[in-house]
Amino acid sequence: MPNLEQWRARTLNEIEQCLDQILTISSSCPYLLEAIRYSTLNGGKRIRPLFTIAAGSLNNANPLNCRLIGCAIEMIHCFSLIHDDLPIMDNDDLRRGKPTNHKVYGDAVALLAGDALHALCFEVLTSDQLAISPERKLRIIGLIAQSIGIEGMVGGQTIDWLSTGKQIDLQQLQQMHTLKTGALLRAAILAGYLAGNEFDSPQYAAIDVIAQKIGLLFQIVDDIIDVTEDTSTLGKTANKDSEQDKATYVNILGLAVAQQTAKNLHSEILELLRKLENSSQLKFLADSVYYRNF
Ligand code: IPE
Ligand code: IPE
Ligand code: MG
Ligand code: MG
Ligand code: MG
Repeated sequence: MPNLEQWRARTLNEIEQCLDQILTISSSCPYLLEAIRYSTLNGGKRIRPLFTIAAGSLNNANPLNCRLIGCAIEMIHCFSLIHDDLPIMDNDDLRRGKPTNHKVYGDAVALLAGDALHALCFEVLTSDQLAISPERKLRIIGLIAQSIGIEGMVGGQTIDWLSTGKQIDLQQLQQMHTLKTGALLRAAILAGYLAGNEFDSPQYAAIDVIAQKIGLLFQIVDDIIDVTEDTSTLGKTANKDSEQDKATYVNILGLAVAQQTAKNLHSEILELLRKLENSSQLKFLADSVYYRNF
């Protein structure tokens, strides 16, 4: 039984190096590159690329390919955080324990750094460095693109924006979380599986169900820790959601119900993972999402 903590530490190191390598390019606008590197490197839990690599191991995918796909997805995640923090969105000053991108580089460059990261994700995915068949590449690119757009992160962020200060029902809340956070996490997991050679429809469908639940759990826990953890632990401003009257699991259902919902979802995920062979890395990461012990 491999030591999963060691696996994570080693893999995190490799992810960091990969991101640094992708962002070591000559640029005609060094200021933009600096802003991008500021919000992409040296910070963050890297849960999405870790999931891509863990899911890839279910399908004997080459870890180098999974790492590259995971890093491309991490760049989308970093873009979403830069935009999420902007004064016209959540108006946050602190991210990953540092001043937010716009606080350092200004609103316009922060906006553009996010846009450039979005494009860079697809540059990486279409590059020859990603050594998988063109068919699989296309499928992965389509999956990731979908997870970002109208029926993905951006759609969810728009619902979040429109729901602020409003009372929405549980179904709408779940839908918003599934889109704004769940979709990209789901894509990170499924893309890892798709980087491998085999394709077993029932297995893919089973992983999809688990991936969706993990994505939803991730955002419910994010809502919970906003009220239960302090700013220095979070590396972002605590109690932001109630201050801004955000539609979250805690604000709409109360802390106790939100915690029970997360607990139930975590149990469901573990139950489903038990039926999946060689899923110890996925289980380890799903536990990290629930316990936030990383
Ligand atoms: C924060 O994501 C934003 C959400 C989608 C909830 P993470 O908690 O993964 O942030 P980092 O990457 O570790 O900073
Ligand atoms: C952000 O959700 C989801 C994204 C798509 C970035 P939050 O607004 O709750 O994320 P944090 O709490 O600022 O990290
Ligand atoms: Mg937000
Ligand atoms: Mg926010
Ligand atoms: Mg939050």
